[in-house]
Parts: sequence; structure tokens; C-alpha cells
Amino acid sequence: MTAPKPLLILGIESSCDDTAAAVLADGVVRSNVVAGQEAHALWGGVVPELASRAHQEHIVPVVHQALREARVRAEDLDAIAFTQGPGLMGSLLVGACFARSMAQALGIPLIAVDHLKAHVLAHFIRDFEASPAPSFPFLNLTVSGGHTQLILVEAPDRMRIIGTTLDDAAGEAFDKGAKVLGLPYPGGPLIDLHAQRGDPSRFTLPSPVIAGLNFSFSGIKTAFSNLVRKGQESDPAFMERELPHLCAALQHRIVSALLANLRKAVHAHGIRQVGISGGVSANSALRQRATALAADEGWELFLPPFAYCTDNAAMVAMAGHFAHRAGQHAALDVVPVARW
Ligand code: KG4
Ligand code: ZN
Repeated sequence: MTAPKPLLILGIESSCDDTAAAVLADGVVRSNVVAGQEAHALWGGVVPELASRAHQEHIVPVVHQALREARVRAEDLDAIAFTQGPGLMGSLLVGACFARSMAQALGIPLIAVDHLKAHVLAHFIRDFEASPAPSFPFLNLTVSGGHTQLILVEAPDRMRIIGTTLDDAAGEAFDKGAKVLGLPYPGGPLIDLHAQRGDPSRFTLPSPVIAGLNFSFSGIKTAFSNLVRKGQESDPAFMERELPHLCAALQHRIVSALLANLRKAVHAHGIRQVGISGGVSANSALRQRATALAADEGWELFLPPFAYCTDNAAMVAMAGHFAHRAGQHAALDVVPVARW
């Protein structure tokens, strides 16, 4: 007897500066390809025009590679999921047009995915290692370059935002702090790296005081640039000498603000299944401190493996997997949405 054919979903992600494609078979990763874009490092942020041009160059080879590595023929796919938004319109258009055309050519369903829901559903991606997934309902902290959200996740397609940032996103706070220090974009991973040799208590940055479950990072950013500017004025070698300590202080303050609200949310909702996802969930201090907090408070904590923290298409395919099973398909003339 032959085994039943697995559900094969191709995911395509192009919302910002990573062109990604992945194939999932019954929710298990068969391939996960990401082509980053170095063009933005020099500019201190993503340049939309450069991003869409690079997506245009990358999309065909990235999708081919994902199918080849998965050992799947395009004709065997059951559905194609793509990121509909939010993101940069020029970038989203590349993935959307490609996915629409491919689904039409193959005569298979198309699934339009919300990038932020995909970050949450990254917890359900099964890799080669058996990784546990949260059960519903759970609380998720989504921390990326564009968003910081506390979400009550009731079902794969039922998520309620219970806290959000009033200004910058957590990833943006890392990236802007890195820019002050003259580090290239994206600065988050570099802050993480330098902070490992730093003392987080050498400099003190203010804690934001915000009622409820919302976040604010702009005050931390302003205090950080003032600290660096004043230090440089009194000693031109300040920044270079203090780099690890400055990175550690910034990281400490951002992570503390994130965990304080996550803890408040757990207490307010009485839900002890807790996930953290999005690019900033790759941060080593956030992972360590969240793990320690979860142990202290008796939460079950879910952190995706690194490959599924930052933008990737496996999470888009995972969202597609849930949507396909629920019969939630998009029309072939579906358009991207830059802001929800
Ligand atoms: O989820 P993501 O790849 O893209 C968006 O949807 O925005 O997140 C990118 C963000 C960037 O701001 C980047 O600096 C940050 O995640 N990031 C980190 C780390 N790795 C990525 N921030 C702090 N520490 C890290 N290790
Ligand atoms: Zn993202």
C-alpha cells in the first residue's frame, strides 16, 4: 500500500528585503530558502526601490531552489501561499504577481497570508527535530522590524491584538540605536553580538512608562542618542571604547520593556502558554531572560528556531497550510495590501 500524498504548500515571502520561498509537506519543512539583500546596509535602512528590484531578480531562482531542495515538482503542489501584506508595496507586488501567475498556470488554489499572522504561526512549523507547538489559546509577543504586538491567539485565523507599540517597533529601536553607533543595517544582530561582551548596568537608560499593555521605544532611542552624543563630546574615543556596554544597556532596556508587558499580559489573561516570534525573537538576551522568566512563573514558553524568527517563507507556507485546510482561498485577482 502506498502512503497518502502529503499536503504540499509552496510559501512565498517578499514583504520587505528578503525574498524567500519554502515548501512544507503536511506542515513539515522540506525546504526553506531566503535571499537577503545587502544593498541596504550602506543606507542605514531598507530602500524600497532597491528592494523591489532585488526581489524581481531573486524570485525565480529562489522558488526554483525551494522546489529543487524539497524534491517537489511544481505540478505536485496543492496550493501556493504568499504574503499579501503588510509591507512595502513594491516588494509585495513582486511576490503577489509571481504567486498569482504560478497558481493560475498550475490551476491550484492561491492563499493570501497576513505577514504578522505568519510570524505567530511560525510556532507550528515542524522541522526535522520534533518541536512542541503551543495549544490554543496562547499569548504571543511578535517583535519585528516593523511591529511589536501582544496577541491573544485563539485559533490560527482568530487573533486579537491586546497591546502594540505607540511609536517605534522593537526591531526599529535596535536598528536606530545601531545607527547611532555607526553600525550597518540591520543593526539588531550586531547589538546582540557586541552586548555579549558588555555590562548592561554600566549605563542606565529610562524605562518607558505606558499604561496598559502598549509599548513605546522612542524615549529609549532619544536617551540613547543623547548618551552617545554627550559621551563623544567629552571624549572622541568614548563610543569605540564603550561599544559593548552601550549595546548591552540598549538591549537590556528594550528586552526589559518587552518582558514587563508580556508578564502583565500573562497575569491579565491567565494564559500560561506563551510564544515569542519575529526577527527580534532571535535576540540572545531576550531568549535567555524569557526562558528564565518562564521557569520562574511556570509558563510554557515557545521560541521558534532561528531560521523561523526573521522573515522566512516557511511561516507563510504554515499559515497557508492552516488556511488551505479551512478552505480559505483567495481569488486570482487578489491584490497586496501595504498597511492593514
Ligand atoms: O521579522 P523580521 O525579519 O522582519 C520584519 O518583519 O520586520 O525582523 C527584522 C528585525 C530587524 O529590526 C532586526 O534588527 C531584528 O529583527 N533582529 C534582531 C536580531 N535579529 C534580527 N534584533 C535584535 N537581536 C537580534 N539577534
Ligand atoms: Zn517579519
